[in-house]
Amino acid sequence: MRYGYFDDHNREYVITQPDTPLPWINYLGMEDFFGLISNTAGGYAFYQDARLRRLTRYRYNNVPMDMGGRYIYLRDNASGVFWSPTWMPTRHAVEDYVCRHGLGYTRIGSACQGIRADIRFFVPPGQTLEVWDLEVENQSENQRELSAFSSIEFCLWEALDDATNFQRNLNIGEIEVEGSTIFHKTEYRERRDHFAFFSCSEPLSGYDTQREAFLGQYRGWENPAVVESGRSGNSLRTGWSPIGSHHVRLTLAPGEKKRIIFLLGYHENPEVEKFSPRGSQNINKHTVQPIIDQYLNPQRVDEAFDGLHTAWDQHLDVFSVATPDEHVNRMVNIWTPYQCMVTFNLSRSASYFESGIGRGMGFRDSNQDLLGFVQMVPARARERILDLAATQLESGGAYHQYQPLTKRGNHAVGSNFNDDPAWLVLSVAAYLKETGDWDILHERVPYENQPGTETSLLEHLERCIQYMIGNIGPHGLPLVGRADWNDCLNLNTFSDQPGESFQTTTNRNGKTAESTVIAALFTMAANELSHITQHLEMNDEAARLKGLADGMSATTRRYGWDGSWFLRAYDHFGKALGSASCEEGKIFIEPQGLCAMAGIGIKEGLVDTALKAVKRHLATDHGILLLQPPFSGYHLHLGEISSYPPGFKENASVFCHTNPWMMIAEAILGHGEQALDYYLRINPSRREVMSDLHRCEPYVYAQTIAGKDSDAFGEAKNSWLTGTAAWNFVAITQWILGIRPEFEGLRIQPVIPAGWQGFTVRRKFRGTTYEIEVRRKGTGNRVSLNVNGEDIPGTLIHKTTEDCVKVIATLE
Ligand code: GLC
Ligand code: GLC
Repeated sequence: MRYGYFDDHNREYVITQPDTPLPWINYLGMEDFFGLISNTAGGYAFYQDARLRRLTRYRYNNVPMDMGGRYIYLRDNASGVFWSPTWMPTRHAVEDYVCRHGLGYTRIGSACQGIRADIRFFVPPGQTLEVWDLEVENQSENQRELSAFSSIEFCLWEALDDATNFQRNLNIGEIEVEGSTIFHKTEYRERRDHFAFFSCSEPLSGYDTQREAFLGQYRGWENPAVVESGRSGNSLRTGWSPIGSHHVRLTLAPGEKKRIIFLLGYHENPEVEKFSPRGSQNINKHTVQPIIDQYLNPQRVDEAFDGLHTAWDQHLDVFSVATPDEHVNRMVNIWTPYQCMVTFNLSRSASYFESGIGRGMGFRDSNQDLLGFVQMVPARARERILDLAATQLESGGAYHQYQPLTKRGNHAVGSNFNDDPAWLVLSVAAYLKETGDWDILHERVPYENQPGTETSLLEHLERCIQYMIGNIGPHGLPLVGRADWNDCLNLNTFSDQPGESFQTTTNRNGKTAESTVIAALFTMAANELSHITQHLEMNDEAARLKGLADGMSATTRRYGWDGSWFLRAYDHFGKALGSASCEEGKIFIEPQGLCAMAGIGIKEGLVDTALKAVKRHLATDHGILLLQPPFSGYHLHLGEISSYPPGFKENASVFCHTNPWMMIAEAILGHGEQALDYYLRINPSRREVMSDLHRCEPYVYAQTIAGKDSDAFGEAKNSWLTGTAAWNFVAITQWILGIRPEFEGLRIQPVIPAGWQGFTVRRKFRGTTYEIEVRRKGTGNRVSLNVNGEDIPGTLIHKTTEDCVKVIATLE
């Protein structure tokens, strides 16, 4: 069953029924100001950091779900009937409901009582505000007297504090109203220099700034007393629960339309100009007024909206493909890059499953998110790399997370996730391959953000490798530390106290538990850094690193191989995990994919054997499971992984992030059919037809799909903020379609099903546009290239200075 459809031409997903299985959300804003918005206008807004600069309140875990957002109420003043064009929060029946989630904007509209209303929500590029562009049309035969009420609930900036510290917070919210603008200035008198504004393009018939006055006591957003009575309270009080609500009256002749613009924004004043008049406690509004005036103008709003479209045209123009499969085309051309933008911006901080309070920018997460983003805006990828490297410790280890606003490492979570350093090397390698910007290696970057500690970025990468070499266990494999890529494999934790953090509590010395996943990552990272240093003509260093990679590869073949697949780890007692000899957790997905990607055991046939085992033991119709058989109970020596019921999360769900590693592995072995098959199993667009089972948005990946051992096999959860987006983009574009940036140029090496006659790609790469046509002649993967009419040897197109290059790749 579907709840809408893809409109590929407009790059939108169109939802035609408001009561989707879960709120289906979108993101507004791409730079500093962000909003989460559901298909019924739920959600919230923040500046840079969902915890420290949250503008509007949102109650996670609320009932009914998704209550709280950007609500507009319309009221027929003759009959007193009122409703919301977004269906929520009144849930009054509406006709022709439609929500269009597009790239950086959402439009929601419906008709009721002969009145059609549509609201377009977006953040103008470069601005720290969101526009709600409401159009109301009288489709009835009579003149109509209407009221429109807006509403938002302010959060007092610090989202965790806001939800917990009531004895203080019920006293600090302050409001100013000037003209049609409501200002929210909590803590402005003291250390904050920022405030929020909620403005309206029309003269007001009234306003409200106190929740209780607007809703009425013991009432909810579904039937505010003010809307019911049609009269605002002009409430203006200090403390309690500040809200913003405008009341606009409008008279519409039959067929007449009216456009009303609302702005919800964030603004900072310079410390010395906070107040006006000076010495008062009033916000100095001179700095923000020009911005408000600008965007209350419909023409400027339309221009800004066009600007948003143009920005996305440019982002998506970097890679566009036409293949025989619509699900490939749609996801590669539109939705996966879009999700990559969102994960790049927000890491794992704010979604409908991540509260914006708990997790900031993850070190390994952000380095991986960059892999799917770097081609779109390389300059921002560059900046991110330098920010991440600045949270590295002098030892070469890294803070596991940092706070987006301050860019400082999070002490509470700390370090010692021993895979983290490898990911920095891999993201820098991806950046270099995309851009050829070798200068980045000479950038001076501090450790732990401490001035005076700066070294070159290259030295940071060297220390990543050094850190990993310094943490090797009894078999010569890397020690796990707190957890490797799998956050829930906590082999040193031994936690028996409820509520202890599996990741940050460490009860054993950590000198025995080893990871094949980190071994594979180390091998990849050391090989990449070897190439990088080779390019810099540091030949001895390149050879040393190559030696380290080869050594780890040999060790993994020797101690990391179980006979039919790669082992997952050695536990604290030196016992193998992910081995046929185990009762549960006999086989894990991660090392099979990552060892293949690291080139470990390909020649020896190990990878081929491992891939067959994955297909036999882990592959299901809904994707590839993380492990089998699941852990049926809690194992003290394994940690969080065994805390989940079988089939959920890391305990044997389809943990989608890992599936692209298998696609890549299959492509490396030349299995185009299998690689694409795995790709399609978790492709959200292909799963759209089973939306009632899948339940999450059909346009983005979710972190997990419940596994076959659960009672919800096929049900997705934790949509949007997952490394799945970046890795799927890499798997399909670079390995299956085979258009792969390398240090020295662009590799063209498709590994596609025998049944595909070919495909075309436009790829912008280092200033050149490559128009690539892939044609099938035989059924294999052997590629011959013709570039601008000339046959060239090999599959690599070296850097060129031409603007446009035509490539014909023949597959035999
Ligand atoms: C979550 C984390 C990620 C980790 C994964 C597997 O997605 O954000 O860092 O690798 O879970 O545990
Ligand atoms: C929990 C989650 C895991 C996530 C981790 C991050 O362990 O299960 O997916 O990566 O928290 O802190």
